[in-house]
Amino acid sequence: MNDPPPFAISGSTGLVGSALIDSLSADEIPALRLVRGERSPAPNEALWEPKAGKVDAARLEGVEVIVHLAGKHIAGERWTPQVKQQIVDSRVNSTRLLAETIASMDRKPRVFVCASATGYYGNRGDEPVDETSPAGEGFLAETCQQWEAACQPAWEAGVRVVQLRIGIVLSPKGGALEKMLPLFRWGGGGVLGSGDQVMSWIALPDLVRAIRFVAGNDAVHGAVNATAPQPVSNREFTKTLGAKLGRPTWAPAPAFALKLAMGEMAEPLLLHGSRVLPHRLEEAGFRFETPDLGSALDQVLGKGR
Ligand SMILES: NC(=O)c1ccc[n+]([C@@H]2O[C@H](COP(=O)([O-])OP(=O)(O)OC[C@H]3O[C@@H](n4cnc5c(N)ncnc54)[C@H](OP(=O)(O)O)[C@@H]3O)[C@@H](O)[C@H]2O)c1
Repeated sequence: MNDPPPFAISGSTGLVGSALIDSLSADEIPALRLVRGERSPAPNEALWEPKAGKVDAARLEGVEVIVHLAGKHIAGERWTPQVKQQIVDSRVNSTRLLAETIASMDRKPRVFVCASATGYYGNRGDEPVDETSPAGEGFLAETCQQWEAACQPAWEAGVRVVQLRIGIVLSPKGGALEKMLPLFRWGGGGVLGSGDQVMSWIALPDLVRAIRFVAGNDAVHGAVNATAPQPVSNREFTKTLGAKLGRPTWAPAPAFALKLAMGEMAEPLLLHGSRVLPHRLEEAGFRFETPDLGSALDQVLGKGR
């Protein structure tokens, strides 16, 4: 039988997962994709159905690194009670399933890297927060706490666990920036609400490098903020993005209009913020390619902006 690939990745069709797969394959590192659905898996796939609590554990035996990125999109639909439950379940149940599977394996991985989010810290104004700061309040903070706690079985089984508290991922291919770009290019960009809320962001290429860095660094474990070292206010973000695109940003979106249009998610996703600092990554020696927003936007938007 062939050796198992070193990496297994859930959510591999998503924004972060597909960039991670591309980065590994550029270095000729094979990866096993955890894929949902009922079909015969390709040689580089393992089937799982997190909703039903099923995973093909045999195919994961001998994998060195499991990176868990799957979860229902948090801004895909209005937050009805049912959608909120799906957002929680798709993260917490899938994480527990993988953590319990890891605990039961004969040849366990060296490390379980599980996504979490800076939503853990809640709405913190301008106060700098690092991995030692307490959790905040609200739906996202509670979701992140449950999500991280669901890794416990892997940790108890002696496997190194890293919970990556990811900030706003910058890429023109998905996430918040992809949504903003058409409006900004048209000249309709502007500050959201007061514009004072702090945006803790990370460029997608640095996030992929950070995932590979924590996977390969045995000294790193527990919560790790995956954010660039220079968070900015929404006002600063708006000004910088407008300048990079050569477009005006005179069209503010008042808080009441955002709440009317988006409902409950407007506050935690757009109007609240936190100044999240990547202390653990920096302490461990990780170097950001794009630590400031200007260079990050130059990198992700490229010349054809
Ligand atoms: N992008 C950001 O700005 C950001 C910020 C903070 C945290 N994060 C977290 O980082 C992780 C990766 O982010 P991303 O931007 O790559 O997310 P994404 O593009 O939305 O991809 C997530 C992937 O999860 C799987 N998925 C979707 N719905 C699911 C469900 N109901 N149950 C189980 N799996 C489901 C899908 O992959 P398959 O179809 O292949 O299973 C999907 O491609 C997510 O957990 C996200 O919450 C992202």
